[in-house]
Amino acid sequence: LTPQDLQGRNILVTAGPTWEPLDPVRLLTNRSSGKMGYALAAAARRRGANVTLVSGPGSIRPPAGVELIPVVTANEMHQAVCQRVDATDIMIMAAAVSDYRPARHEPHKIKKGATDASLALVSNPDILRELGERKKTATCFPLLVGFAAESENHLEEGQRKLTSKNLDLIAINDIGAEDAGFAVDNNRVTLLDRNGAVEELPLLSKEEVAHRILNNILRLT
Ligand code: PMT
Repeated sequence: LTPQDLQGRNILVTAGPTWEPLDPVRLLTNRSSGKMGYALAAAARRRGANVTLVSGPGSIRPPAGVELIPVVTANEMHQAVCQRVDATDIMIMAAAVSDYRPARHEPHKIKKGATDASLALVSNPDILRELGERKKTATCFPLLVGFAAESENHLEEGQRKLTSKNLDLIAINDIGAEDAGFAVDNNRVTLLDRNGAVEELPLLSKEEVAHRILNNILRLT
């Protein structure tokens, strides 16, 4: 029997990639399938939480009983998350948000040879960093959980993001390994919390990783 240890908690999870359109045909995106975020939403729901899933485009069916807020771009995800901060106890940001978007979104398909083939980009909002900043001065703020997708110096980079984004917990993915991370069913993460505790998890299903993350969250609340 699954424990109902998140009963009554309001949890917001972000999942999937964002799509940053260049024209009606082309876009900037990444390899996130949404599996990790959807597994977190399903696990939190099974443990009794009220779950809102803010998801970028993908093909996974949302878990039963979860409120799905579909978004496309980083700006849309930013808006959807910020609108819900006050109604949330725990935010888990598993989405792979595009850091940049094309400077112009052309209304018509760009013709071959019409440009010099270079692409101008502008920065997207860093949603988690902004929440971490707001948390510094707020009297009451949701617990903030982030992910880090790293291909080198995993622990150092994870620690840097935990501190600089003012997080309570971070799950660091080694995205160099083929059996874990983007688009596959398993993940291998190291969990670092605000008190300096480190838990290195073995290769596990994303469902099991989700439960381990939720166990750590409960210890911090
Ligand atoms: O979706 P899957 O195929 O299952 O793959 C899972 C995953 C590998 C995508 C997931 O486990 C993961 O690592 N997600 C975070 C990927 C990422 O964008 O990492 P980052 O190190 O670039 O970002 C750090 C944190 O800041 C993340 O929590 C991210 O959601 C957040 N962020 C990043 C950029 C941005 N503009 N806004 C953000 O909020």
